[in-house]
Amino acid sequence: MPAMPGVGGYVFDAYGTLFDVHSVVEAGREITADPQALSLTWRQKQLEYTWLRTLMGRYEDFWAVTESALRWTIRRLRLEATDAQRRRLMEAYLSLACFPEVPGALARLAGRPRAILSNGAPTMLEAAVASSGLQGHLEHVLSVDAVKMYKPAPQVYALAPRALGVPADALLFVSSNAWDVAGAKAFGYRVAWCNRLGAPEEELGLPADVVVTALDQLPL
Ligand code: 2OP
Repeated sequence: MPAMPGVGGYVFDAYGTLFDVHSVVEAGREITADPQALSLTWRQKQLEYTWLRTLMGRYEDFWAVTESALRWTIRRLRLEATDAQRRRLMEAYLSLACFPEVPGALARLAGRPRAILSNGAPTMLEAAVASSGLQGHLEHVLSVDAVKMYKPAPQVYALAPRALGVPADALLFVSSNAWDVAGAKAFGYRVAWCNRLGAPEEELGLPADVVVTALDQLPL
């Protein structure tokens, strides 16, 4: 992979990029024979609520939004879940594993600041960083909670250049979510899309500068 000259730091999305939300699917097995459908419907509604709440100016943190999205998903899929089962599904977000290549990929980028910039609430991100063992590989953990808005609001992407002291056009933003890549590109970052699932490009006129399928393919 050709090097990317002038990159002064790396900014990573969390869920789906560094952390594998598959453990949420495992917890779903308790209440459905199709935990994949539960996880996909839940994830889509979670994101919809972040966009709706931002546009309405009605911010609630990602834990609250994720819980509301779970309640909606359980009703939408006509499932039954006890409070304890719902709590176990939520707690899966606090003990996520990272994708296998992530620790080595982050270590390979050491020497320049490495940050998380995520919709996740601060306590959720702290828990996921600790459970995945990534604390030694990240200099900053940034949550949208600081600005009470969600991605792709530009105010969110403004957090990393400020925290890292590196202008956006010298930062490489990395996400598995193509809509997040578009938002960061619109703000002025260089962007890498980690297309883990072979998804089609978005039609937003904001293509990634580089596309990889795993983080150990990122240009140094
Ligand atoms: C994030 O971690 C939700 O994946 C999105 O910001």
